[in-house]
Amino acid sequence: MNFSDKVVYQIYPKSFRDSNGDGVGDIRGIIDKLDYLEKLGVDYIWSTPFFVSPMNDNGYDVADYRAIDPGFGTMADVEELIAKADAKGIGLMFDMVFNHTSTQHEWFQRALKGEQKYLDYYIFKDGTPDKIPTNWESKFGGPAWEYVPHLKKWYLHLFDVTQADLNWENPAVRAELKEILKFWRSKGVKGFRFDVVNLISKPEQFIDDDRGDGRRFYTDGRHVHEFLKELVAEGGIDGMITVGEMSSTSLDNCIRYSNPNEHELSMVFSFHHLKVDYKGGQKWELMPPDIGALKKLFATWQEGMSDAGGWNAVFWCNHDQPRAVSRFGDGSPCAAKMLGTAIHFMRGTPYIYQGEELGMTNAGYTSIEQYRDVESLNYYDIMLKNGKTVEQAIEILAARSRDNGRTPMQWSAEKYAGFSSVEPWIIPPNNFTAINAQAEVDEPDSVFNYYRQLIELRKKYKIVADGDIKFVEPDNADVIAYERSLDGQKLIVLCNFRPHDVRLERSIKELGGQKLIGNYDGLEEYLRPYEAVALLL
Ligand code: GLC
Repeated sequence: MNFSDKVVYQIYPKSFRDSNGDGVGDIRGIIDKLDYLEKLGVDYIWSTPFFVSPMNDNGYDVADYRAIDPGFGTMADVEELIAKADAKGIGLMFDMVFNHTSTQHEWFQRALKGEQKYLDYYIFKDGTPDKIPTNWESKFGGPAWEYVPHLKKWYLHLFDVTQADLNWENPAVRAELKEILKFWRSKGVKGFRFDVVNLISKPEQFIDDDRGDGRRFYTDGRHVHEFLKELVAEGGIDGMITVGEMSSTSLDNCIRYSNPNEHELSMVFSFHHLKVDYKGGQKWELMPPDIGALKKLFATWQEGMSDAGGWNAVFWCNHDQPRAVSRFGDGSPCAAKMLGTAIHFMRGTPYIYQGEELGMTNAGYTSIEQYRDVESLNYYDIMLKNGKTVEQAIEILAARSRDNGRTPMQWSAEKYAGFSSVEPWIIPPNNFTAINAQAEVDEPDSVFNYYRQLIELRKKYKIVADGDIKFVEPDNADVIAYERSLDGQKLIVLCNFRPHDVRLERSIKELGGQKLIGNYDGLEEYLRPYEAVALLL
């Protein structure tokens, strides 16, 4: 099955809508807002996890894959959500965190009791506390191993110490995970997102990494393609919409993950384009985005996947990323529309992250007390330890923290942005009085209505969904520009990433064609600040 004319909307339930006045978003909050999503026109909702969890990593530390965390609601709420969304033609995609479980999960708890069956579910290594098995680093900072004194063993955790990596080499683990997929499928779930799924296959030997943090040993690991094929076939989900989150992956692997002939996944998230503002490749070192590099990456991935029959999930924002409009633009509605244009005409299935369709910006926090995310709090300490001043660390978090994408959805100009009746678990940016759904839904020129049109155009024009793609204006480091083509028809998309006018190799007049959409009135020969336009030739 092909998902080329579909659009997915990502919800981070904790920050979407609080229906019961406890300051935390919940499942009923999503149900309340289905009309809004129907109006926007999306086909699927991917919700990040709401399963039972101690919430050390906001639900990515799952303690029970088949039960709903009471903080989010009940199984009845989830069933109602699936049914009500379905009635509107919107399918639910659930987020499967299968690389690791919470250490609160029954499997890990039984492993801690020394039960061999469950010790084999995880990656335990015998040892002494003075000798860590390898020098690998956790993605959230610090070592990737934790010692359990009473077992005299270390366990691997690529993420938080409370997120223990599962041992996929063990067929019993794989069997458990397939059953979980079947369970949710039988509840009417239409698809799945698989968390960091290219990290599931660990190496045979665990050895020190003298060149990095260990990732080269387990990223796109030796059995990952086999494991995925087995999970999809035996979990009974072939043909459903599936997307894998691929950490530090390669184009070749992503082609295999997503080419329909391989029967692995329907599409992949890769993240190289979201590292073009990492100074020296370091997330916690700031530099302005390198638009020339961004353009090359898009060209490589878009054309490379196209040539080999792979399929991208195309996106700017998610719950792990700062807001694109603050990062690649100036925070204005104009820049928000330009960024939407750049992604929505690409070859791939677009994902919209809650609030992106309103032009929501970074949080603008000025003190560490405002942050909640485990990664941000860990790295704040690490940055101070490494000699950064408090001001520098706060400036870096303000640009890079995952909390920038986790602030409450801005529903209205009312107190707490209409998200909740009480102070939310994390505070909204001050700009919610201007940027909010209530102000935008009926305003024809709003970012919301621009996104609505972008979705409509993908459904209306086959060339947007299925056309080939080729990048143009290769030497212009100010614009992202590409051409789609199908059956002799052409569509040209031009996006200016600069706050000033930019001239093109071929002027807009020379190109001619019919304007499908754009974020300015009329057309000039050049692109105005953050202007985007799509022309059908
Ligand atoms: C993914 C999730 C992120 C989480 C991590 C560990 O990257 O998107 O939020 O912290 O995996 O599960």
